[in-house]
Amino acid sequence: MRVGIVGAGQLGQMLGLAGKRLDLEFTYLDPAPEPPARIVGPVLKFPFDSDSGLEQLASLVDVLTYEFENVPVEAIEKIADRVTVYPPPEALRHAQDRLNEKRLFEELGIPVPAYAAIDSEQDLRAVVRSLGLPLVLKTRRLGYDGKGQQVLTDESDIATACQALCGRPLIAEQWIAFDREVSAIGTRNVDGRIAVYPLTENRHSEGMLRTCRAPDASRGIADQAGQYLTRLLERLNYVGVLALELFVTGDQLFANEFAPRVHNSGHWTIEGAATSQFENHLRAILNMPPGDSSAVAHAGMINLIGTMPGNWISSEGERIFVHDYGKKPRPGRKLGHITVLADSAAERDRKLAETSNILTD
Ligand SMILES: Nc1ncnc2c1ncn2[C@@H]1O[C@H](COP(=O)(O)OP(=O)(O)O)[C@@H](O)[C@H]1O
Ligand SMILES: [Mg+2]
Repeated sequence: MRVGIVGAGQLGQMLGLAGKRLDLEFTYLDPAPEPPARIVGPVLKFPFDSDSGLEQLASLVDVLTYEFENVPVEAIEKIADRVTVYPPPEALRHAQDRLNEKRLFEELGIPVPAYAAIDSEQDLRAVVRSLGLPLVLKTRRLGYDGKGQQVLTDESDIATACQALCGRPLIAEQWIAFDREVSAIGTRNVDGRIAVYPLTENRHSEGMLRTCRAPDASRGIADQAGQYLTRLLERLNYVGVLALELFVTGDQLFANEFAPRVHNSGHWTIEGAATSQFENHLRAILNMPPGDSSAVAHAGMINLIGTMPGNWISSEGERIFVHDYGKKPRPGRKLGHITVLADSAAERDRKLAETSNILTD
C-alpha cells in the first residue's frame, strides 16, 4: 500500500520508519528544503495549500494523512473527493480553532477551564472582571509550543497582552493551577475499533514539552481520561491516532486541547509500548486491527531542543534510545528525543534525572 503524508517533519519521518515494517511506501508533501522524512520517501516540494501539489500526491497514493493540524482544511476537503483522507477533515476544523475545540469538549461533557471569546481590549477587560485573574490569552488559531499566548496576572497586564495579540480572534482561559499535565493518546480504525495507551505525564517549560513519563500511576484519572478520549474519537468518527491534553488538579481533569495526529507525548511508545503510536496510526488508516497499546516497561522521554548532544548513542543493553531527526540545530527547535526504559517507575525516574543531568552539564 502507498501512503501519502502532508508534512515531512519528524512525525512524518517516524510514521515512515514504522511503516517500513508494514511494507508500506511513503510519499510526502512539504515545501521545506531538507525535511526529516526525506530519508524515508520522496518529498513533493509544494506549499501545504497547493492544489496541484495535493493532487499530485493524491494520484500517487492509496490513502492520505497528515502530520500536523494546521494543514488548510479547505485544501484537504477538496482532495478528499479524490483519495481517502484520514483523520477526517472535521477533526481538523475543531482542532484548528480553540473556541470550536472548547465547545466540542463541552458538548461531550468534558470539563474545560472557564473561557470566553475575545475580540477587543474591551472584551478582555470585561472577562478579567468576570473570570478573575490569572488568565491566559491565546490566539484561537495557529498556536503551538506556547506561541501566541500571554499570561495575565494583574490588571496592568491587559494592555500589553492586548498589544501583543489583539487584532486576531482570541480566547481567554482561566489559569488552572494544575498539579500535573497528562495526555491520553488513542487510536480508532476505520471499523471503529479503539485502543487507548496508558496515560502519559507531561512536563513543559516555556510552553514546550520537555519530558514525559508513562504509564502514569493514578488509575482513577487514567480511566476518566480514557473515557473522555473515547467520546472524542467516536463523536468525530475519527480514524487514526489522537492525543488529548489534560490538566489534573486533585482528582479533577480539565481538557486543554487535542491534536488530530501522532503526538510528541507519545514518542515513548516506540520502545515503551507493544505497538507504537506511529504503527497504530498507520494500522488505523489502513483499517487493520489496532496493535496492542499496553506498556512493556516504565518509559521516560526527554526532548532534545536547540542542540543535539555529541557522542550519544542508543544502548539496547541499558535501554536508552536516542532519536536524531536529522534537523539543523536552531534555538527552540525540536531536534530529537531520548527514551529510557526501566522495570519500575522509581528506576525510570532515576534514569531520566541522570540523563537530564548529563545533557545539561
Ligand atoms: N488555562 C491554562 N491553565 C494553566 N496552564 C495553561 C493553560 N493553558 C495553557 N497552559 C500551559 O501552556 C502550555 C501550552 O498551552 P497549549 O494550550 O497546550 O498550547 P500549544 O498549542 O502551544 O501546545 C500547556 O501545556 C500548559 O502548560
Ligand atoms: Mg498543547
